[in-house]
Amino acid sequence: MSASQKSALIVGASRGLGLGLVETFLARGWRVTATQRTPSPQLAALASDALRIETVDIDDDAAVADLHARLGPQAYDLIFVVAGVATQAHDPAHVVPRAVAAQVYLTNAISPIRFAEAFRDRVAPGGSLALMSSILGSVALNESGGWEIYRASKAALNTLARSFAIRHSDTGISVLLVHPGWVRTDMGGAEADIDVATSVAGMADVVEARLGRPGSQYVDYRGETLAW
Ligand SMILES: NC(=O)c1ccc[n+]([C@@H]2O[C@H](COP(=O)([O-])OP(=O)(O)OC[C@H]3O[C@@H](n4cnc5c(N)ncnc54)[C@H](OP(=O)(O)O)[C@@H]3O)[C@@H](O)[C@H]2O)c1
Repeated sequence: MSASQKSALIVGASRGLGLGLVETFLARGWRVTATQRTPSPQLAALASDALRIETVDIDDDAAVADLHARLGPQAYDLIFVVAGVATQAHDPAHVVPRAVAAQVYLTNAISPIRFAEAFRDRVAPGGSLALMSSILGSVALNESGGWEIYRASKAALNTLARSFAIRHSDTGISVLLVHPGWVRTDMGGAEADIDVATSVAGMADVVEARLGRPGSQYVDYRGETLAW
């Protein structure tokens, strides 16, 4: 690895946006460690000397600790937690079983923050920790309703990420909350506005432009700052 080559850890890369980010950063000359929950043929198809594939479920603290130990002392310019779920996103909050609502909250808000805490010592100086949020996590921009449990989980992620950045402000940590656009993936559906290539190219530009800026920023894939 050359001294100038950048490195990323992309968490939740079996398909969709995570997979697209891996492809994009590899194409831009980065070294990438990508995680899957179960073996992903699409990720395996990207095999190269610049790609390391690992397995982790972000809801499993022991598995996250094992990954941290397995990866060793290497620091990353970017750690991007992409993994997320949208279970029963179309049902209003009172209809969704408590256990389902709790699981969406755990996977979308608690697990990314626990992952960030576990791996913050692996962010290189001048690097960034990015978390995949959504414009649906904005309380201020919620003018259409819907996606209630999912919205609440991403709003919780935003809140927890701000607190995380403040808690570690003495280290100058850089936390990026990123909205990828409404994207044609398994989660976004076929009717979504943009394709994966457009979203991930935009997000990679945003990440590269904002590497290492201290504090928390909430931005979309075009670099626009979003209202909390
Ligand atoms: N698509 C959109 O329009 C859109 C808009 C705003 C925000 N987002 C956010 O962008 C992120 C990626 O979404 P996507 O559209 O690419 O969705 P997707 O195609 O459904 O992919 C979701 C990814 O998250 C992984 N994942 C879920 N739970 C996990 C866990 N507990 N541990 C590890 N990995 C886990 C999945 O792994 P498996 O393959 O193992 O299930 C998969 O790789 C999510 O956080 C989503 O909320 C998407």
